[in-house]
Amino acid sequence: MKLLEGCDGIPPERVQRAVIHECRKWNLLWVGRNRVAPLEPDEVEMLMGFPKDHTRGMSRTDRYKSLGNAFQIHTVAYHFSVLRDKFPNGINVLSLFSGIGGAEVALHRLGIHMKNVVSVEISEVNRNVVRCWWEQTNQTGNLIHLADVKELDANRLEQLMFSFGGFDLVVGGSPCNNLTGSNRYHRDGLEGKESSLFYHYFRILDLVKSIMAG
Ligand SMILES: C[S@@+](CC[C@H](N)C(=O)[O-])C[C@H]1O[C@@H](n2cnc3c(N)ncnc32)[C@H](O)[C@@H]1O
Repeated sequence: MKLLEGCDGIPPERVQRAVIHECRKWNLLWVGRNRVAPLEPDEVEMLMGFPKDHTRGMSRTDRYKSLGNAFQIHTVAYHFSVLRDKFPNGINVLSLFSGIGGAEVALHRLGIHMKNVVSVEISEVNRNVVRCWWEQTNQTGNLIHLADVKELDANRLEQLMFSFGGFDLVVGGSPCNNLTGSNRYHRDGLEGKESSLFYHYFRILDLVKSIMAG
């Protein structure tokens, strides 16, 4: 590592701070004396709690991107664990911004049966990962994929909900590129191009509530 060149023994505080900054920024690990390397996609997959090879087949860049944007499975599973006793016969899920299926994987890990999942995700590559995982884990429920949250309107929701009797869980993590993280484009906040999709989450949640109340 260039920053440590010429340092003999413990580096000065300024260098230590610079090293930590670079390691945090690029997710670097110590792999030897004065040597750091980025986490491999397989390692990120494991740290995020996904099954081994969950994203295998995607390009290396897509794997980093999708895993970096995903839910941490164990954390989400901790929050979902209250649902297990409430819904012993399974649940109907509306999964917005599904990505590579963090919510679905967490529910499966908990042994919560997914009777119907309506999964809305714009990236075809991500949708394929979820479809593939769904088939490989022999899910007996229905997985319905839609692409764009902006196109999910009251008519489509009503049609879906009447066919299986409403949703028990609405879950989603909208893009945060304009808010935080190393993959941010602009810090425009919730009004930013990607992060403003957050408002669709609430639009859809309100629609679901009003359809279920009606
Ligand atoms: C923060 S990630 C959510 C990842 C997900 N929670 C997971 O565990 O993989 C946001 C996701 O929203 C998707 N997305 C962006 N624009 C979208 C849109 N208009 N409609 C649906 N999904 C969209 C992105 O492709 C990305 O996968």
